[in-house]
Formats: sequence, structure tokens, C-alpha cells
Amino acid sequence: MNDQKGRLIVALDVETFEEARKMVDALSPIVEIFKVGSQLFTACGPVVVRYLMAKGMKVFLDLKFHDIPNTVAHAVSAAVGLGAEVHEVLGENQEAVQPAGGLFMCTLHTLGGGEMLRGAVEAATQRAKNLGVTKPLLLGITILTSEVKTDNMPTILLERARLAKASGLDGVVASSQEASLIRREFGRDFIIVTPGIRPKGAATQDQRRVSTPAEAITNGSDFLVVGRPIIEAGDPVRAARDILREMAESKKVGQY
Ligand code: C5P
Repeated sequence: MNDQKGRLIVALDVETFEEARKMVDALSPIVEIFKVGSQLFTACGPVVVRYLMAKGMKVFLDLKFHDIPNTVAHAVSAAVGLGAEVHEVLGENQEAVQPAGGLFMCTLHTLGGGEMLRGAVEAATQRAKNLGVTKPLLLGITILTSEVKTDNMPTILLERARLAKASGLDGVVASSQEASLIRREFGRDFIIVTPGIRPKGAATQDQRRVSTPAEAITNGSDFLVVGRPIIEAGDPVRAARDILREMAESKKVGQY
């Protein structure tokens, strides 16, 4: 189960820093990657990113940048800058602040086009070099997992994934149902992050193209993003542990 720890990303989709802090403190013994998305970042800003980094957690900043190339390049550069700062945010009597090594992941919409994506890769690479931190893995959003499946979806998905790859991105965010298509075309050297994960029997909520943790691993996903099935569970630690177990029990498809 331990080797799955590095592949589970918990989406901190909560309203306040206090709620996020409680969730991170409870889950940090068994989870090491946390996703900060537009809800939490809009509500409390960089403090939550600094808190996570100070605790030695990996941060996935999921702001899905999509704007003119100049704006996105500066936004990505600012995000890389966040990964270099860790202020004292743990409060008194807590463990020592860990050195910041950079953000772990960050998202951009492939719909923004090649110029926007290439500009973002260049800006992230340059800023990380200047600051002496690791460049975050830049991931392209292909099709949201809440979108209804259509017949031309595989074609659109592969076009967007090709654009992401050609523009220098490190991987894509895609549903488990499309992960195997991406693996087949791009091989192992392209990261697939999959949200829309629902353990067997769980409610799908607004997600449409869902899969179980085991299916996602079997289809070739590298990282699984789980929000509500963990953060809204009566016992989030137990829910995360069950998902890690289910991931560990899956069989990775050998051909990829
Ligand atoms: O609660 P749930 O497990 O559905 O949360 C999924 C998380 O993954 C949310 O934070 C959502 O923003 C994110 N996400 C997604 N689909 C994408 C990209 C990110 O659901 N294509």
C-alpha cells in the first residue's frame, strides 16, 4: 500500500484555511500530495500553499490557467515563485519548517493553444532556474471529467494531448476511460493524472466519466485525484486508506 502513497492526490476543495489545515494535519501521515484548486486558492490565497510546503507536502496547484499567452506565462511564473517561499506558517510548538523545493504540479487548459502552452513552459523553466527550484510538472487539461461522453471525444482528447506533448508539457489530466488511449499513443514518458475517482458504490455527484481507483491504475493513470470521497467522508483517514488499498490491489496493464 505504501508505494501507492506517492500516487494519491487529495483535492482540498474546502472553504477556509482552517478546514484545509485540519484535513492536511489528519491526512499527512498517509497522503503526501495535496491539490489546491480555485475554490480554496480564491478563498485564502498562497498561505495554504506555504502551509503545505512547510509541512513537507507536495503541492498540486490546480488553477487551470487559460488566458492570453502573456498573462498565462506571468501566472505560471508567479506560481513557480510560490514554490520558492515558505514563511513560518506552522505556528508555535510545531515541527520545523521544511525547505521549499518548488511546486509539484500545475495545470493549464490545452484549449488555450500552442502559443500559450509553449510560453508557459518557457516561463516556468526560466523562473525555476532563476530561483533554484524544481520546475513544476506542467499538465494540460484535456476534457473535464464532468463533461458528458460524446462519440468524437477520443479524437478531441488525442488532439489536445498531442498539442500538450508538442508544446513541452509533462503530461495531461484525463479521465481513466481515456488513459489507455493516451498511454498507447505516448508511452510511459507522459504523465496522466486522473480525477473523477469513485470507490465502488460511491455517488458520482457532478462527475460523469468516473472510474474506481483500481480501474484508473489498470488503465495507465500515474496519479489519482480524489476530493469528495475523502474530504466529505465521516472518517477521511479511513476513506483515504481504503482507496490506497484498492489502488494497491489493482493490476497494472503490462503492455504500457
Ligand atoms: O470531489 P471530486 O473527487 O470529484 O474532485 C475532483 C477534483 O479534481 C476537483 O478538485 C476538480 O476541480 C478536479 N478536476 C476534475 N476534472 C478535471 C480536472 C480537475 O474533476 N479534468
